[in-house]
Amino acid sequence: MPLQVPLRVGCIGLGIGKVHLQCYSTREDVRIAAVCDINEALACEVASTYGAAAYTSAHKMLSSERLDAVSICTPPKTHAELVEACAEAKVHVLCEKPMASNLKDCRRMIEAAEGAGIILMVAHKKRFHPFYSFLKRMCDGEWGQILWASVRFALGRVEKGWFWDEDDGGGPVLENAVHVFDLLRWLMGEAKLVFGFGGNLFAKHRAPQIDSAAVCIQFSSGGIAALAIGYASEWAVAREQVAFATPFVVVDADGPFDNVSQFRASTRDDEPKPIDLSFITVGALDDFANEIEHFIRCVLTGVKPLVDGYEGMRSVKLALAAKHAIRTGQVVDMERFECD
Ligand SMILES: NC(=O)c1ccc[n+]([C@@H]2O[C@H](COP(=O)([O-])OP(=O)(O)OC[C@H]3O[C@@H](n4cnc5c(N)ncnc54)[C@H](O)[C@@H]3O)[C@@H](O)[C@H]2O)c1
Repeated sequence: MPLQVPLRVGCIGLGIGKVHLQCYSTREDVRIAAVCDINEALACEVASTYGAAAYTSAHKMLSSERLDAVSICTPPKTHAELVEACAEAKVHVLCEKPMASNLKDCRRMIEAAEGAGIILMVAHKKRFHPFYSFLKRMCDGEWGQILWASVRFALGRVEKGWFWDEDDGGGPVLENAVHVFDLLRWLMGEAKLVFGFGGNLFAKHRAPQIDSAAVCIQFSSGGIAALAIGYASEWAVAREQVAFATPFVVVDADGPFDNVSQFRASTRDDEPKPIDLSFITVGALDDFANEIEHFIRCVLTGVKPLVDGYEGMRSVKLALAAKHAIRTGQVVDMERFECD
């Protein structure tokens, strides 16, 4: 049956889910019909903001409401079961990153979505950030292939238990740095070899979870990247700092953690000249808003999302490979790396 605009959307999990709702609420092609959180007071409070129905069970919400699309914004351990429930109800899904804590769950999600013919998009927002999407366009064209990257993406303290659990968030290298693994895969292609040092350096009460890491990646293209990631900062000083080099340009960006906002670039010819990037402007929620715009467009047109289940799964696999390299002290060959 063709979908009718405004689409009826729901949101499961109302932490970062509130940001999804904020973005949906500005759109004329969407109506927020229902929200769900196991915290009843929170569900009721958010529902009243949007004149939506409140639920404490996703299953109840999916069976009671006629929804077209849902954002899943709960901890990773719950994603597979919730995607399966949405697939059964034939509701399209935008699922927060990391797609899951293991590849078995990622496969379950892909299978359920394919079986039901629903769209499954993973919310890797960096691909929708104005700077990174511009960089991708330019490097697919005249700026040439990125062959060198440096990323500082160290976060401050997070005390949510699920964030650290191995079978849920998987600690900062998976839960948080999956943003960077996905971004680099998108910009530089598939990883070939991964190596890293790291350990439980600061969050002793989370031992033996790896909290901080220095990871090196060699890509199939021959390109290389160095990442400084994990709980190695505090929020007052946490920054996102990235640098990229292609044969023809070098690009440098930094800004608040998780939202670069200042950019510099130069040509690399015999007389290097600065490249003006001042036209790139970044609003605080641009990445989320663009991601949701893409999701809604995919739902309405049936186009495959930029970050489908397979893409989400490959980024989880790269994060798991980095953790494996740290724990074993070995270089991981991505083609041979098996993990479930
Ligand atoms: N894209 C981003 O920048 C970004 C930012 C933050 C979090 N996230 C991701 O979003 C997800 C949630 O993170 P968060 O920071 O919002 O977590 P959170 O703990 O702050 O909020 C999660 C909410 O989900 C609810 N919940 C848990 N299980 C549920 C279930 N089965 N049914 C309904 N509600 C349930 C909890 O009560 C809680 O209110 C994680 O996968 C995280 O990695 C992404």
